[in-house]
Amino acid sequence: MRRKFIAGNWKMNLSRAESVALASGLAQQLGDATDVDVAVCPPSVYLDAVHQAISGSHIALGAQNMYHEAAGAYTGEISASMLQDVGCAYVILGHSERRHVLGETDAAINLKVQAALAAGLLPIVCVGEKLEEREAGQTASVVKTQFEGSLAGLTAEQMQQTVIAYEPVWAIGTGKVASPAQAEAVHADLRKLLETSYNSEVAAAVRIQYGGSVKPSNAAELLGQPNIDGALVGGASLKVEDFMGIISGARA
Ligand code: 13P
Repeated sequence: MRRKFIAGNWKMNLSRAESVALASGLAQQLGDATDVDVAVCPPSVYLDAVHQAISGSHIALGAQNMYHEAAGAYTGEISASMLQDVGCAYVILGHSERRHVLGETDAAINLKVQAALAAGLLPIVCVGEKLEEREAGQTASVVKTQFEGSLAGLTAEQMQQTVIAYEPVWAIGTGKVASPAQAEAVHADLRKLLETSYNSEVAAAVRIQYGGSVKPSNAAELLGQPNIDGALVGGASLKVEDFMGIISGARA
């Protein structure tokens, strides 16, 4: 049985004080509950402060990006071991904003995924089609190419430690959520890809999150689909009440 996993991607939002307040508020509201896995992914400059705010809680810390090299002359970049040093368990890799705004390729993302896993960080690897690709009937092939490219070379054991996030680009920050049936169809495709690339055990174990305009009002229906194992939440992760509402949706 895959335990639901709700992660908040705060993106480039909030001040230090707001980040700490949000993290503390979530830790307080979540209390001792461990039936749903929860993580928050603040901007990297606030990781340390947020780590302190959630210490003693069941909330895990995640980063939004990293570089694949271990150390050296890479101005502005952050390594996997640095993220671990400030308390990260997870790292989001290949988010569509990094793919399409910052120009990250599947090959670059794959290097990061390999480096994260080698260092013991759990990657949340994002895939998803743009609107024109969906309209051209290319969703399945785009997602397959991203899956095969971003996750190339992973052992079965490494794949089981990896979380996949399906985030249709047209549903991110737009208020346009994929219907539960649209999302479930892609999640089912991804699980088939896991089965054909690995085996049924791996396919049954890997968690696949949905991301794109998830809110308290649509969370339960999306998370009730057989192959949707959690959510990667942007806008609605910035308010305690909304994020808690989505976590409640995972319990429904
Ligand atoms: P929104 O929830 O704001 O649509 O963002 C989704 C997302 O990109 C999470 O990584």
